[in-house]
Amino acid sequence: MRGAFITLEGTEGVGKTTNLDFVCATIRRAGVEVVRTREPGGTPLAEEIRDLLLAVRDEPVADIAELLLVFAARGQHLAGTIEPALRAGCWVVSDRFTDATYAYQGGGRGVDEATIATLERLVHGNLQPDLTLVLDAPFDSVASRLSGRTRDRFEREQRDFFERVRAGYLERAAELSRCVTIDATQPLDRVQADIVAALAPLLRGAGER
Ligand code: TMP
Repeated sequence: MRGAFITLEGTEGVGKTTNLDFVCATIRRAGVEVVRTREPGGTPLAEEIRDLLLAVRDEPVADIAELLLVFAARGQHLAGTIEPALRAGCWVVSDRFTDATYAYQGGGRGVDEATIATLERLVHGNLQPDLTLVLDAPFDSVASRLSGRTRDRFEREQRDFFERVRAGYLERAAELSRCVTIDATQPLDRVQADIVAALAPLLRGAGER
C-alpha cells in the first residue's frame, strides 16, 4: 500500500520545526512509519543544491537559475527519497515542497505561475501531497524570531518579499482542497490541536491505504 505524502509550509519563523516534530510524532503514535525530509534537500545531491541556493553571494542570482535549481533538487529528492518511501508504504513528511516554489519564486520573485506549472508537470507529473499544512502568521509576529539568526540568502530579504510570499501561500491554500491553513499566532497547544484535526481523516484511512 502506498504511503501518504504530507507537506508543511509557511514563511520563515512560523514554527515549522517544532510542528514538524509534532506531525511526525502524531503519525508514529498511530503506528505508521514516517520518513521526515525537507526541501530544498533530502538527498546528498539535493542538500548540495540547497547549499548553493541558500549561500549569500555577491553575484545576483537570476530568477530562472534559482527556479531551475529548486526543481533540480526536487527531481533528485523525488527519485532518491520521496518516491521509494511512498512505494514502500511509509508516510513522507516534508518540510516544504512545490507550494514553496509558487510562494517564493512565484509570489516573492514574481516568476509567472505558468512557468512554475510547466516545471511542476515535468518534474512530478501527477504526484501531489495528500495534505499540506500551511502555517500562517503575519510578518510582524515572526520578525523577531529571525533577528538572532545568521541569515541565509532568503532570510535576508525584506518585509515586502515575505508579505508577497505569505500572500502567495494564502492564495494557493484557498484554491486547493488538500491545503489546510493554520493560524500560527495561536498558543502552541491550539496550533497542535488544529494539526491533529487536519491529520485525522488521513490517519483514519491509514488502515485502508
Ligand atoms: P527552510 O530554511 O525553511 O528549510 O527553507 C529554505 C529556504 O528555501 C526558504 O527560505 C524558502 C526557500 N525555498 C524556495 O525559495 N523555494 C522552494 O521551492 C523551496 C522548497 C524553498
